[in-house]
This record gives sequence, C-alpha cells and structure tokens, in this order.
Amino acid sequence: MSDKRISFKVDGEVQGVNFRSYTQKQARSIGVTGFVTNASDGTVQGEAQGSADQLKEFVQHLNKGPSAASVSGVEHNEISSKSGENSFNVHQRHFSSSESSKIQKFFEKKETELVRRTPAAWPHHEFSPEQMNAVTVAHRETQTRADKAALVAVKILRWGLDVATGYKHKQGAMTEEKYMIRNVFLESVAGVPGMVAGMIRHLNSMRRMKRDNGWIETLLEESYNERMHLLTFLKMSKPGPFMRLMVLGAQGIWCNALFFAYLISPRTVHRFVGYLEEEAVYTYTRQIEDLDAGRLPKWEKLQAPDIAVDYWKMPEGHRTMRDLLLYIRADESKHREVNHTLGNLNQKEDPNPYASEYKDSSKPHPSKDLAYTKPTGWERHEII
Ligand SMILES: [Fe+2]
Ligand SMILES: [Fe+2]
Repeated sequence: MSDKRISFKVDGEVQGVNFRSYTQKQARSIGVTGFVTNASDGTVQGEAQGSADQLKEFVQHLNKGPSAASVSGVEHNEISSKSGENSFNVHQRHFSSSESSKIQKFFEKKETELVRRTPAAWPHHEFSPEQMNAVTVAHRETQTRADKAALVAVKILRWGLDVATGYKHKQGAMTEEKYMIRNVFLESVAGVPGMVAGMIRHLNSMRRMKRDNGWIETLLEESYNERMHLLTFLKMSKPGPFMRLMVLGAQGIWCNALFFAYLISPRTVHRFVGYLEEEAVYTYTRQIEDLDAGRLPKWEKLQAPDIAVDYWKMPEGHRTMRDLLLYIRADESKHREVNHTLGNLNQKEDPNPYASEYKDSSKPHPSKDLAYTKPTGWERHEII
C-alpha cells in the first residue's frame, strides 16, 4: 500500500479556535503524519500523508473543524510523498516565513512509542487576569551599602545588555525582532542565579549537616520558570550564531561570578536579583505598552506557542502574545518580590517565607501565587 501526501488549506474562522490541536488529534487517531500551521493570511495550512482512505477521513474532519471554528472551504492537492516522517505536528507561526522551515525543526518535540506526554515538573501557580494587570513597575530604595553595590551592578549589567541587544530607549525604536533578541538574552541570564543559589544552599546543607529551611526549592523553581520563559521565546525566534555566542559567553562568566558572589554575600546577591527583576518587569511593561500603542504590529495577531499554553495553562481566548507578556511579567514581579524578601532575611536561620504556613493565615503573608504581593519585598519583622 503506497502512501499519498496532500497539502491542504482551510478557510474560514479557523485561527484562535484550537483548529491546529484539533487537526493534530484527528490526524493521530487516524494514523496520518504531517503537520499543520496557522498561515499569515488567516487560513490554516499543512500537509498530511497516509493511505487514500485515511486521507479521505482526515479531509472530512478538516471540513468539520472543532466546535468553535466555522470552516468555509477546504482545498487540497496531491504532492509528492515524504519518507521518514512518523508523527503529526503543530507548527508555530513565525516572524519570517522564509525561515520557517528551518525554525520548525528547532527543538521539535520527539514522539516516542510509549510516552504520552511529559508535563512541567513544577506546575505554574495560576494567575488571574486582574492580578496580572495589577502588576506595576516598582523600585526598592537602597538602604545599605550592599544595596547600593547591588544596584550599581545591575545598572552596569543593564548597560551591557542594552549594548549587546541593541536596545534603544526612544519610543518606537524597538521592533518585534529587537525585543525578541533582548528577551532571549535576558532570560538566558535570568535562569542562572536561582540555580546557583539553590545549588550552593543544597551543598551547604549537606556539608554542614543542617536543614535548609525550604529555600532550595523556591530558588530552583525560579530558575525553572526563567528557563520556561527562554524556551517560549526560542519557540518564536531562532537566535543567530552571534546571539548564541553571547549567551555562551555570558553563561561562562556570569555563572562563575554568581557562584563566588553567593558564597561571599548571599543577601547582596538576592538584592541584586531583586533589582534585576525590577528591570525585567520594566522591560515587559514597555513591550505591552508598545504593543497596545500599535508599535509592534507583527505581535498583534501572534499566538503564544503551545509550550506556553501548556505551562501557564492559558485559557482559551487568552493565548495571544499580549497574554503571554502579561504572564511573563507577572512571573518577573514575583521573582522581584521573592528576591527582595530573601535579601531581607537571616540567610542561615530564617525559614523560606514562600514555603511556610503561617499561624494566622488570614493575615496577608508571602505566597507563591499573586494572592498577596509586595513589589519591594516583605520586611523581616512582618513575616518571621
Ligand atoms: Fe524571565
Ligand atoms: Fe525573572
């Protein structure tokens, strides 16, 4: 039995209605291979391969579509079949269509025979739209000499980041591509401190044979969250060789510098990360503002990639680039609060306020979600 392959195009109300995941589900249950993607002209397009009967059934499903869709027409043409394809995938839409074939192969999920799915190890603490919209830019005033040193270090790093990513402060100077480069670099830097701090505390606890009081998990979870930010952006834009080199260099220097800094003064490092996260909230707030002002047209209809929809459990109808930026900004605001708070504590003795239960739980206290927020961090006397 020889396989046939078709290219297809579905017209109608077909984007933003779950059409691609519906198509994938049908294709997999029928046993058809290929891919589906949202095209920039508003249609859903793709290719499918299987026996004549399988393809006939598949096209019937395309004509029907998921309940939220309204299909006005399906075109399909036979094309030459491909060998070596063994699954049916959803492809994301990208900024430049000419590059899309290269990008689609960029860390594509590998299907295996027995594994159904691999969910996030640290499920995200869900945020409501009101909570995410309430996130604001904030700054903690410096109080000690160490605070001042941390702030100066962030200013220097920020300057370096601006130069490396070609960041311009002038309104309208930033394009979607420039922001994306900045975000990739920023997130690759942001994913390091939590892991380094968590590792040092882990080793410390074992070496000194003492409890850690719950800090390690929060720190590791933070770096996990940052890596999800990075992976999400990477799904949307593939960095060039220069960016990869920058990330590599930054990691080599940055990771080691943080390691020694955390050994010397963990409090200062937490304060430093708190200030860094202030910048992150600021950067994402600017992107949301630029998007709302119509300065980033390519992002207006862009959908969040599946990896993001899964991780943040983004509800149907709230899966645009703007929604994604709201989620990420809210995460950054939490990192800002967590690190400023940790920077206020006794590093050796105090329990992690984000992993603790409070005697009076009706009073506001630190939480992993956005139930209670304190952008400049909780003071020690308020929580310990
Ligand atoms: Fe981040
Ligand atoms: Fe962050």
